Amino acid sequence: MNPRLDGKVALVTGSGRGIGRAIALKFASEGARVVINDLDAGPAEEVVAEIRAAGGQAVACPGSVTAPDFAERFIGTAVSEYKGLDIIVNNAGYTWDNVIQKMTDEQWYAMIDCHLTAPFRILRAAYPVMRDLSKADQAAGKRSVRKVVNISSVAGLFGNAGQVNYSTAKAGILGMTQTLAKEWGRLNVTVNAVAYGFIKTRLTGNAAEGGTANIDGREIKVGVNPDLLAAMERGIPLGRGGTPEEAAGAVFLLCLPESDYVSGQTLMCSGGLTGI
Ligand SMILES: NC(=O)c1ccc[n+]([C@@H]2O[C@H](COP(=O)([O-])OP(=O)(O)OC[C@H]3O[C@@H](n4cnc5c(N)ncnc54)[C@H](O)[C@@H]3O)[C@@H](O)[C@H]2O)c1
Repeated sequence: MNPRLDGKVALVTGSGRGIGRAIALKFASEGARVVINDLDAGPAEEVVAEIRAAGGQAVACPGSVTAPDFAERFIGTAVSEYKGLDIIVNNAGYTWDNVIQKMTDEQWYAMIDCHLTAPFRILRAAYPVMRDLSKADQAAGKRSVRKVVNISSVAGLFGNAGQVNYSTAKAGILGMTQTLAKEWGRLNVTVNAVAYGFIKTRLTGNAAEGGTANIDGREIKVGVNPDLLAAMERGIPLGRGGTPEEAAGAVFLLCLPESDYVSGQTLMCSGGLTGI
């Protein structure tokens, strides 16, 4: 079968692990050249090595998406390495939960910075490149449709107790998605979101195992209470949490030519779960 993303240049934040990694591997297996980002350089380099070992093309751009100079560096890497920019997936993220009466300003802003301000800066930095590529296409009589996919959550659609910071940020990214779908339609860029339910990754591992992640210099607990996880799975019509590969499939759909006339939409990838 022909690769579906042959020669496309794709950027995926937070692609050293979990869903982002699965998206990057899927894109590369379909012929895309991928810019891999992660806070942690080790996992990012491992994904690059995995893609290259399979005969694909990838380059790492490690660092936190919250760093003020990150967006320019990220977009700049795609342009300098691959001379193009076709797909951007804003995926990097984590959770830092608490009920509102116990939530600090630091927790609040950490989620806004990572899930909202970082995608905003990345897309702002991408604009001049998208505009120039679109103009060049028009001059050449070509019509290439470029793609942005922003990662949200059912928590952003329906709220989730203990996640006022995260659910607010994941709701905000949907506003950004709808607005940019309107601003960028004339550039032939579609802008959509994927909202996940429960996907089995480090983020949703067993909290009882006491795992932590060092994010922007803070040691943050990862995982979800196992009883809550079991209850969540029982509430999913398909009866189980999804795999990172299944999660990547939803993003892939929005990057195919078959979805070129779909923009400003949120695709729920939740095994049929329609609320929490
Ligand atoms: N797993 C789920 O059930 C679920 C549900 C809804 C939404 N999501 C969203 O999906 C996305 C991916 O989550 P995941 O489940 O794959 O988690 P994960 O922890 O497995 O992977 C996330 C990756 O993002 C990286 N990352 C975190 N902060 C970063 C930063 N500031 N800069 C660069 N990289 C950073 C981490 O190092 C990690 O490698 C997140 O935006 C998350 O909110 C996940």
